[in-house]
Amino acid sequence: MAPIVARTREELNTAINALPGKIALVPTMGALHEGHRSLIGRAGELADSVVVSIFVNPLQFGPNEDLDRYPRTFDADLAICAAEGVAVVFAPTLEVMYPVPNEITISAGRMGTIVEGACRPGHFDGVLTVVMKLFNLVRADCVLFGEKDAQQLAVIRRMVTDLALSIEIVGCPTVREPDGLALSSRNRFLAPAERATALALSHALHAGASAQGPSGARRAARAVLDEAVKSDPPLELDYLVLVDPATFTPVPDTFSGTAVLAVAGKVGSTHLIDNVIVNFPRRDEPA
Ligand code: PAF
Repeated sequence: MAPIVARTREELNTAINALPGKIALVPTMGALHEGHRSLIGRAGELADSVVVSIFVNPLQFGPNEDLDRYPRTFDADLAICAAEGVAVVFAPTLEVMYPVPNEITISAGRMGTIVEGACRPGHFDGVLTVVMKLFNLVRADCVLFGEKDAQQLAVIRRMVTDLALSIEIVGCPTVREPDGLALSSRNRFLAPAERATALALSHALHAGASAQGPSGARRAARAVLDEAVKSDPPLELDYLVLVDPATFTPVPDTFSGTAVLAVAGKVGSTHLIDNVIVNFPRRDEPA
């Protein structure tokens, strides 16, 4: 059955009030791909009704970023939602989401200024503000986010803790192409040679995750990226970090436990991010 498309808050309320049981929300900016499809599939396992929001949120784009060229593929997105049994697609206009310019916004605090937040000032404040609005509008029981945006997931979890929100946050594994490239709505911008360079991101993470200890992981990943920086077209490396998954602060070389190896860079004019979770056993534990 085709999902109900709600464009206004009133239409959303009517559609939500008619939904049975537990509601799961999958917030998106559209240009849906297999990664979104897996989030929707998991949402269907966790709840009775799935709501997908599609909104390209200007608040999370900086002045020189790709807001204008961000892909908008509503008909294809709707077809995916229909195939996946989504009950409601909330696709508000800018005026519905932001009827008046925001005076009050959510701050991601220190976590919004480090790693990806250092490359994209204000990005996570914009994400949290729209996500909080979506939580309030949809009133879902649980909300699903991809682990590819690991820092986004961390700041959202932290907002839920710090602001005592009654909502369950579910992280879902990154979906990859067979050659390792993490799925992203921005991959469609990559020319074939750029895509070949972009593969260095996942290759670097794989090399890092297979190495011994935190310093070995950083070194092995860095070696792959150093080659990609020299390739044609080159990778412009923004960062490679090994961080605590909850706080995104760097872990020391002596660290044992779970860390996130995260990387970001630009290929051509496309900003790409990726990460992998790495477990470092204690020295006396088997690997
Ligand atoms: O991950 C995204 O697509 C966006 O950041 C989100 C969570 C939908 C907020 O606009």
